[in-house]
Amino acid sequence: MEIKKITVIGAGNMGHQIALCAALSGFEVKCTDTNPDILAKAIAFANNYLNERVTKGKLTEEEANKTKQNLAFVPTIQEAVVETDLVIEAIIEKLDVKRKLFADLDAMCPAHTILATNSSYIVSSKIADATNRPDKVCNMHFFNPALVMKLVEVVQGSHVSNETVDAVMNAAKKMNKTPVLLHKEIYGFLVNRLLQATRQEALKLLDMGVASFEDIDTAAKNGLGYPMGPFQLLDLTGIDLAYHVGMEKYKESGDAADRPSPTVVEKFTKGDFGKKAGKGFYDYE
Ligand code: NAI
Repeated sequence: MEIKKITVIGAGNMGHQIALCAALSGFEVKCTDTNPDILAKAIAFANNYLNERVTKGKLTEEEANKTKQNLAFVPTIQEAVVETDLVIEAIIEKLDVKRKLFADLDAMCPAHTILATNSSYIVSSKIADATNRPDKVCNMHFFNPALVMKLVEVVQGSHVSNETVDAVMNAAKKMNKTPVLLHKEIYGFLVNRLLQATRQEALKLLDMGVASFEDIDTAAKNGLGYPMGPFQLLDLTGIDLAYHVGMEKYKESGDAADRPSPTVVEKFTKGDFGKKAGKGFYDYE
């Protein structure tokens, strides 16, 4: 099955850029959001982005106009899913809300439509059984900012058909992305697991007093070619988030190794959440 028409549900951080990316690649795209302000912001962003690309000589006037024709921001899901081949859901990260949306989408979409979720952590098997088309429900995980980041993780849980995965992988390639395929569902997919492993080790080395956090960052950047050290990244994504993710994981597994490290607990308790708080491992005041 060749995907030509794409619907993006949710025009927030991720959705508006996924929609624009698809429109730039020649797909016919409709994007919707329950919040009219967010929708208005997404329209303004798309227009500004395309006009700027023309000014900078990165797009021709004709390409920008074609992209604008390809992309419609519409106020209701009903309008957004007419004749669609692929829905990419990018709404709030709450399982019950996603399940309700997928049940609605199942009732509204044509029978052939694939329903994909951009969720960072929720595997599609937790959502697929809210529909009557579990073989057509999968994860299609973009990275932030979606217009820039090349990677897309596609996850084939045991309920997902090969046809679905082939169609989604091809759509990602046509969007000029580099898709990778996971043959099994797993918490955190590939990137967030790799990130977690580096982060855990970096925190362990710091807690053991082996080196300063600055030198561990320097080692990651200059020895491994990472663009940013693990502590710089922790400051950027938020030490509070790292604390909550660790606590959730520990609650689920009961494994003490999953607990947030003593350093993370200390910084969390002090409110040193990272860049947004003006202080984390580094000082931003
Ligand atoms: P966001 O909060 O910026 O945007 C979500 C949007 O969905 C909001 O504008 C909201 O009004 C809208 N919405 C909520 N319920 C809706 C419904 N029933 N129908 C239509 N619109 C609805 O969230 P963000 O950051 O874009 O995340 C969306 C999804 O993408 C989440 O599942 C998240 O895990 C995933 N994700 C987020 C990344 C990030 O860096 N923020 C990276 C990769 C994936």
